[in-house]
Amino acid sequence: MKTYKIAVLRGDGIGPEVVREGLKVLDAVSKREKFSLDLAEFDLGGERYLRTGEVLPDSVIDELRRFDAIYLGAIGHPDVRPGVLEKGILLRLRFDLDLYINLRPVKLYENVPCPIVGKGPKEIDYVVVRENSGDVYTGAGGISMKGTPHEVAIQEMVYSRHQVERCLRWAFALTQARNKRNTLALCGKTNVLTYVFDLWERAFHEIGAKDFPGIAREYYHVDATCMHMINQPERFDVIVTGNMFGDIITDLGAVTQGGMGMAASGNINPEKTAPSMFEPVHGSAPDIAGKNLANPLAAILSAKMMLEFLGEEAAGAIIERAVMKVVRSIHDVASGKMGKSTSAVGDEVADAAATL
Ligand code: IPM
Ligand code: MN
Repeated sequence: MKTYKIAVLRGDGIGPEVVREGLKVLDAVSKREKFSLDLAEFDLGGERYLRTGEVLPDSVIDELRRFDAIYLGAIGHPDVRPGVLEKGILLRLRFDLDLYINLRPVKLYENVPCPIVGKGPKEIDYVVVRENSGDVYTGAGGISMKGTPHEVAIQEMVYSRHQVERCLRWAFALTQARNKRNTLALCGKTNVLTYVFDLWERAFHEIGAKDFPGIAREYYHVDATCMHMINQPERFDVIVTGNMFGDIITDLGAVTQGGMGMAASGNINPEKTAPSMFEPVHGSAPDIAGKNLANPLAAILSAKMMLEFLGEEAAGAIIERAVMKVVRSIHDVASGKMGKSTSAVGDEVADAAATL
């Protein structure tokens, strides 16, 4: 029997509750599909930091490298200064493990309320490939004359040809494999960010013309992208973009697919030189933490992405069918409004995954 080694990082806030449900579903589907998951827990997050002062020891990163995948709940704690845990854990894992693709599907399921009038599952089904290693996220910049009226703060948008190219190639290949509309859209800001997105745009057309002639190429400024995501989401098949724009547009995308409780993601190292990490797009939501109110479907759908990445495509498809069934009976997928508890939703999906 095939066994996958999974590192489980439940994290902060609602992280542990939604991961618990994801693991329930993984257990059900692995029994059915005859593979096993060897789980190891890692205590990382705000609680550990407040208790011990440790964010993410180097030794833990080394340990994590031995796993096939990482399953993460959420990172962020109201008593910890913003940035400490985000940069110290989440971004550090993305950088150190070279998880340079952040794959974020925007898919609206049947019967999930969509805030856009006249749009449904037929129109909202695309994926965002968010570059995950560069941009303003690299931390390049600084503050001088801090605290004086002349204080200057700089945070630089950094991209190398190498970073741009590997991301674009992956996005083209995904568009090809998806074989839906065979259209890749680059989302940038070539009219203002005339250095960084000049690089992106040139690489986009060069790589596309030479190595992916069957894939149509479109370009949108990021502001126009936001407009089309609302007005004409059916335009999109695959969107590729930089780290910062990708962060922003995927929250907008999440709203169109029913909210943060529905948005899944994978931080992927395509060469598999380190484990990839799967996590819901949502944060730790401390206001509802521990109340069994959070929607676990984003975490469950992230587990589905993890199985697909591991090569368990059939198991991933079962989880998606199970979610599609259960979501039909949920009137409102917003956390706290589901009319069911976190654990009840997880039970139902696990049941469906075992029997559907
Ligand atoms: C996300 C989050 C993170 C990001 C934060 C928590 C650092 O918003 O995964 O989208 O900006 O990437
Ligand atoms: Mn975000």
